[in-house]
Amino acid sequence: MAGVHEARTGGSGASNGRRSSRRRPRRVLMFPLPFQGHINPMLQLGDVLHARGLAVTVLHTRLNALDAARRHPEFQFVPVLDGVPAHVSASGNVIDIIEAMNAAMEADGAGALRAVLESVVADEARPPAACIVFDANLLAVPRAAEAVGLRTLVLRTASAACLGCFLAYPMLHQKGYLPPQESKLYMPVKELPPLRVRDLFYSSWSNHKKMRELLARANEAMKNSSGLVINTLDALEKAELKRLCEQLHIPVILAPGPLHKLSSKCTRSSTPDQDYSCIEWLDKQPSESVLYVSFGSLASLDAKEFLEVAWGLANSGHPFLWVVRADSVRGFLDGPDIPNGFEAAVHGRGKVIRWAPQQEVLAHPAVGGFWTHSGWNSTLESISEGVPMICRPQFADQMMNTRYVVNTWGVGLELEGELERGKIEKAVRKLMKDREGEEMRERAKELKKNVADCLKAGGTSQVAIDKLVDYILSM
Ligand code: UDX
Repeated sequence: MAGVHEARTGGSGASNGRRSSRRRPRRVLMFPLPFQGHINPMLQLGDVLHARGLAVTVLHTRLNALDAARRHPEFQFVPVLDGVPAHVSASGNVIDIIEAMNAAMEADGAGALRAVLESVVADEARPPAACIVFDANLLAVPRAAEAVGLRTLVLRTASAACLGCFLAYPMLHQKGYLPPQESKLYMPVKELPPLRVRDLFYSSWSNHKKMRELLARANEAMKNSSGLVINTLDALEKAELKRLCEQLHIPVILAPGPLHKLSSKCTRSSTPDQDYSCIEWLDKQPSESVLYVSFGSLASLDAKEFLEVAWGLANSGHPFLWVVRADSVRGFLDGPDIPNGFEAAVHGRGKVIRWAPQQEVLAHPAVGGFWTHSGWNSTLESISEGVPMICRPQFADQMMNTRYVVNTWGVGLELEGELERGKIEKAVRKLMKDREGEEMRERAKELKKNVADCLKAGGTSQVAIDKLVDYILSM
């Protein structure tokens, strides 16, 4: 069944979903990796499950702590000590942060985490816990969960293609695709079409031994889980999902994405405060005229690149809305200095903000393009609203997301090489003005319709959620 890929469980998700509402109430524990791009989809899934009658308890770390009471009063939030030293969290190196967190949580045989789970599970004031949905990078969870008799489900917050690449990691090294060699960057990886060597999950500044070990253990945790939920959908990754199902022998593999479109509270899941003044500003702009520019929660520029982006946008002549986080530019902790003359040059047609209500921005009729770092959430959010993209990937899965956007779905172009104002100006014009950009916009609108079909009653994503709820209630 599309969207619901099964190894051992049977039956129709939709009809099971109706049956399930008559069963006893249950609770789901959730433990996201504490980064924006991982927290958002986990809370969106929590919201969807809560709307289907399940109680939700979210475990969270001090790092990027969630503003629980204000944003999700319907969930219970329980803190877990992450043990990440301040200098490691300040380094911003994701692999180092995850390693420190795992080392601390696993230090005592996952005893501290087990104690938290024990007290959460023992809480008789809430419905009995059915399982814990967790991010497989949190390596202490399976052991702690097993000790308290909780079954585990894994939520993958990136694409099915990305998971396929993780599973292939040993092969990619054995066959010499990784580490990537300069001369082979454009060589196809025939085992993982349509990826080329340069699109593979890889980061030149990470410690690769550490990364390989982490991926191997996260894969193992996933393979031993009771189920896998991937924030993707058949309309985008049918072949990739099929490949995963052939490879993995997990009881259920479900693709109910894009979760932000199923969740009624999607825009409240972000941790930083979103600047809604940009919506009023967008209201005054002509239809499909504005380029939205944002590089997610982690990607950054150096000071020279920041200048090039600023002047590239200014010189393009197009209206733009640009998210410049306080930590967007390396070396500046409280935001970079806006270059002299920039504000005057873009007066009335350019707006710079610290953090946007991105999903509303992309859904706004004035937005006609998105210059993105190609994080998976941003990619899904853009496609869901039919907005074509300029892709500027930096690390992790961003290169492979770009490959799919440009090559497979045809809804964007890549801005490659050094960031330079003339090149930026040209790319913006191509997307916002030229025939080529118009064709990408048309394809993006088609893809939006396909996504909407998956989300309708009886569509593959809805069926996957029905199936998930039914499965949880059967635990
Ligand atoms: C990280 C990785 O960088 C990414 O490659 C991976 O796929 C997920 O984890 P991040 O860099 O934050 O994620 O990018 P992305 O996945 O796009 O998620 C960013 C989230 O922040 C989106 O949900 C987006 O809506 C939200 N956002 C971003 C805002 O709400 N406001 C903003 O101004 C910018």
